[in-house]
Amino acid sequence: MTLTEIMQTLPYGPAPEAAKPALDWIKAHKGRFQLFVAGRWRAPASQEWFATINPTNGQKLAEVAQAGAADVDEAVKAARKAFVGWSQTKGHARARYLYAMARQIQKQARLFAVLETLDNGKSIRETRDIDIPLAARHFYYHAGWAQLMESELAGYAPVGVVGQIIPWNFPLLMLAWKIAPALAMGNTVVLKPAEYTPLTALLFAEICQNIGLPPGVVNIITGDGKTGAALVEHPDVDKIAFTGSTEVGRLIRQATAGSGKKLSLELGGKSPFVVFEDADLDSAVEGVVDAIWFNQGQVCCAGSRLLVQEGIAEKMCAKLRARMEKLRVGDPLDKSVDLGAIIAPAQLDKIRRLVQKGIEEGAKLWQPSWALPAEGCFYPPTLFTDVAPASTIAQEEIFGPVLAALTFRTPEEAVRLANNTRYGLAASIWSEDINLALDVATQIKAGTVWINSTNLFDAASGFGGYRESGFGREGGKEGLWEYVQKINPSGSAAVAKPKAKSRRARANVAPTALALPAIDRTAKLFIGGKQVRPDGGYSKAVYAPNGSLIGEVGLGNRKDIRNAVEAARGAFEGWRKTTAHNKAQVLYFLAENLSQRAEEFARRLGEQTGQDGRAELEAALEALFTAAAWADKYEGLVHPTPIRSVTLAIPEPIGVMGILCPDDQPLLALARLAGTALAMGNTLVVVPSPLAPLSATDFYQVLETSDIPAGTFNIVTGERDELALTLAEHDDVDAVWYAGPRAGWALVEKASAGNMKRTWTLPPSGPLPDTDEILRQATQVKNIWVPYGA
Ligand code: NAI
Ligand code: MG
Repeated sequence: MTLTEIMQTLPYGPAPEAAKPALDWIKAHKGRFQLFVAGRWRAPASQEWFATINPTNGQKLAEVAQAGAADVDEAVKAARKAFVGWSQTKGHARARYLYAMARQIQKQARLFAVLETLDNGKSIRETRDIDIPLAARHFYYHAGWAQLMESELAGYAPVGVVGQIIPWNFPLLMLAWKIAPALAMGNTVVLKPAEYTPLTALLFAEICQNIGLPPGVVNIITGDGKTGAALVEHPDVDKIAFTGSTEVGRLIRQATAGSGKKLSLELGGKSPFVVFEDADLDSAVEGVVDAIWFNQGQVCCAGSRLLVQEGIAEKMCAKLRARMEKLRVGDPLDKSVDLGAIIAPAQLDKIRRLVQKGIEEGAKLWQPSWALPAEGCFYPPTLFTDVAPASTIAQEEIFGPVLAALTFRTPEEAVRLANNTRYGLAASIWSEDINLALDVATQIKAGTVWINSTNLFDAASGFGGYRESGFGREGGKEGLWEYVQKINPSGSAAVAKPKAKSRRARANVAPTALALPAIDRTAKLFIGGKQVRPDGGYSKAVYAPNGSLIGEVGLGNRKDIRNAVEAARGAFEGWRKTTAHNKAQVLYFLAENLSQRAEEFARRLGEQTGQDGRAELEAALEALFTAAAWADKYEGLVHPTPIRSVTLAIPEPIGVMGILCPDDQPLLALARLAGTALAMGNTLVVVPSPLAPLSATDFYQVLETSDIPAGTFNIVTGERDELALTLAEHDDVDAVWYAGPRAGWALVEKASAGNMKRTWTLPPSGPLPDTDEILRQATQVKNIWVPYGA
């Protein structure tokens, strides 16, 4: 080639990164890795091993241990033992360890990057510039939270032993997202890397040894899904943090149901990439490259659905095809390669199968003209146009470099299409009109929204899903709550509580209605702003602690719940968009109307609890005031992420919530739980305690005389667990709070796995949770990234 030719074609020459240092590291371990438990390497009791492969060439890199149930048990024991000391270690000392981890990752950054590329097949450009630096950043950032925990999270303690299960797409980065916040908050961990990519976690284990981390604080056990399942089921694990497929997330939700284990799930997505007519198209095209071809599209928040406004769709796709023609797929150790290898043949098959399906369903396929490398696990960047919104490739997570393009006409249609998915992980919005972009950002149901940008991540910003993309956040202050628990809820000590015994006794007393004066009225259900008779036509007697009949309530059933959910759904958008000031006004007015009937409510409380009801009535009024006060004060944050960006962390309502009330302090519980949930913009289906439902049914008269929009607050009385199950199974319910016996927790949590609704389980009696916890449970944080720069 002459110089002139080179200048004209500017072809890429090879730019290989040496694999040798990583291969030497593997060799130094004789190609075989044991389990890292209690600070030492130990052979698996199972005596089983498996190979980890380089997907670029199919060659075996090393053998790692397959941890069995006995190994999991050893690791959990080690973590439990270490927890005693670690949880009492000063925040400053923990900060120093986290800082040391960050430093060590940086010092060995090249080795980590090469090892990650070998084991995973992703390009060295990405491991070097994104995975490894961001992993270090997470440890630095959380070193800071360890330092500040005592002052900034006063009243909170670590959760205990945390089991963490991570996927193969960002092996070291996901390890950092999990381990850094857990250790910062004083927990100890047992982490299981994905079976395809265990090596960088094992290199990280060496760091733990080298910095003198106390044995057992971090344990790393390799293995496949069976190992993960054993960790999930281990009775001495206090929390599970999982990132991976929605399918496995659902299994884990079911397996932990009723166990009392804390759970966070970061699952799949089908994130929209929305381009409006006035967008900077060239930037948007580069955005698409990052959105769907970053990490070969094997990204949970990949922008896999391109929604383009009709007028520019053709132009945008033409630009995109031209750009795709220039992308380079090949050896990921080559520094100028854009897309590396797909993780494994099974994943490649899945991509091919879904692409075939796309063709069969009538979408138009386009791939660049160049050929893939002859060997190895590769797939070309792929664009589908003419995609129908309901088709498989528009709905299912492909987890490969495949983009499905759809068009829209108006912003409303864009929002509808964007939300036309069961997922809600992320979204990207492109428009030069900031008003439009922010308006759309607030309407898309997703945990992260990037404006004129995409796939931006930082430790200071929380990441996690809405809907079936899971729950819990990683990163930001919001991520810390996953790893702490309240030490002593201050509850509602001001109000005397009936003794547990008398409550139980009450449930068992025989009806003595004959001895009583006539009952003139059966409380109805309250649905859609109206009193309605229960669908089944049955009612249920309510007794005082002394066994006398004090009233009857409707026995609601499945159909009543469905009607109430429909009413709550119908009211949601309106209530969500009501200004915070007006929400507060509605709550104050509720309190005002309640206070006008103070005597009547106090008397009713007395009847139900056998105690003077005045104190509880007062506490309930105060709770409504507190809820009203928070309505316009529960603020978000602006996270200082290290690009020029305003990163807004906004608490948003969860949606339609089912609330099953506790038995104690029926009016106060109602005011505090439902009041706070309302203040945050949720709409409610409230199921009063079956032992003391009358305060709630009386309450609908207060609702009727207030300004609360119809459908916002619905009340269905009946059998607690029957109604709880219907709510937990309902796909249009977004969260269920259940106060009741342990058996009910399992029921609700298991059934919630259907649409991955959020659940919060509480004991049937005892102190109520503090308002700060209720506020957090009533909201989910959306992070909106708004980069700036002329
Ligand atoms: P996966 O969800 O099976 O694996 C993730 C992790 O969970 C691995 O460490 C695995 O060993 C573990 N695991 C598997 N079964 C388990 C069980 N029953 N209990 C506890 N842990 C278990 O994901 P996989 O099979 O690697 O990929 C399948 C599909 O999942 C992909 O095609 C992709 O669509 C999706 N996926 C999504 C990810 C995300 O970040 N959203 C990450 C990885 C996969
Ligand atoms: Mg591998």
